[in-house]
Amino acid sequence: MSKNRRRTIWRPSKPSWWTPESAATDEARYRSRRRFMQSFALGSAAIALGCDCGPREAATLRPAQPSPPEVLNLYPAQASPSHRIDEVTPENIAATYNNFYEFTTDKARVHELAAGFRTRPWQVEVTGLVDTPTTFDIDDLVRRFPLEERTYRFRCVEAWAMVVPWTGFPLARLLEAVGVQSGARYVRMVTANDPEQMPGIRSQGWYPWPYHEGLRLDEAMNDLTLLATGIYGHELPPQHGAPIRLVVPWKYGFKNIKSIVKIELVAEEPPTFWHTLAASEYGFYGNVDPGTPHPRWSQASERRIDDGSRQPTLVYNGYEEQVASLYPGGPSATP
Ligand code: MTE
Repeated sequence: MSKNRRRTIWRPSKPSWWTPESAATDEARYRSRRRFMQSFALGSAAIALGCDCGPREAATLRPAQPSPPEVLNLYPAQASPSHRIDEVTPENIAATYNNFYEFTTDKARVHELAAGFRTRPWQVEVTGLVDTPTTFDIDDLVRRFPLEERTYRFRCVEAWAMVVPWTGFPLARLLEAVGVQSGARYVRMVTANDPEQMPGIRSQGWYPWPYHEGLRLDEAMNDLTLLATGIYGHELPPQHGAPIRLVVPWKYGFKNIKSIVKIELVAEEPPTFWHTLAASEYGFYGNVDPGTPHPRWSQASERRIDDGSRQPTLVYNGYEEQVASLYPGGPSATP
């Protein structure tokens, strides 16, 4: 593949997901790159490591503010043997194809526009129907709950898919720590709302900012539900939702709220960002379901962002065994 051809990867004339086969990295290469990155104290922004591609594809792979050494040293975390998948999406591809409307709707530019996003100091307020409402500093949170690495499939409602190694801890651990009261039935989560740093909030005033999402309490307590603070063996970069985001792998990507500042336990189903905008297109549950088309496209198959291959969509994105019991009526039935 010639260099010139490589440079065309993100041109709008091609589908935005298009990428040459040669850009794909196998698991062994990801792991060896990970060892390489561990061996260097890489903390600052704007590093395009292991990306044998042109400058247009260079991704910012780190947060703008490095964490204290004792937090940085927690990465990479121990990989969970029960959450391993071999075909990991190359990091530079996942890091340059993002949805984060607070910055821009252009997937290929989120990483550039979010590069300087200040993620420290950062606090997460846990409030509502809990015994001990607590505001956690992000570094205390990361030190308090043991981190693990889990590789999950990820499926966007737009029908693209990837496989990504997250680092984080189950949301259940945090909820247990603050004590969930008996009246709590849902968890509401809210993203930072900072128009000064987030140009998409300024330019797209019609969206119901801040981005907000929700889960039913039993979904939130499911062992798969992660609060992620890292990806590919290091801290999250801004485009992936630094410093802390939700990962619910059996649901469409829009449920995976980024850059969380508030987690609130509530009694009623909370309104959610996309459901408020277009209720007929984005349900509260958002479970991956090949049998229920989006009103404007089929969900029967998905497109891998690394090699463009099409594969059948899996019910609950392949996590049926772990979550089907939560939905007696099936993935798309309204309970
Ligand atoms: N969270 C916030 N705050 N704002 C967003 O625009 N987009 C969602 C989700 N979380 C979004 C968000 C959508 S639609 C997707 S597909 C995923 O983030 C994309 O995550 P990624 O960019 O890390 O792949």
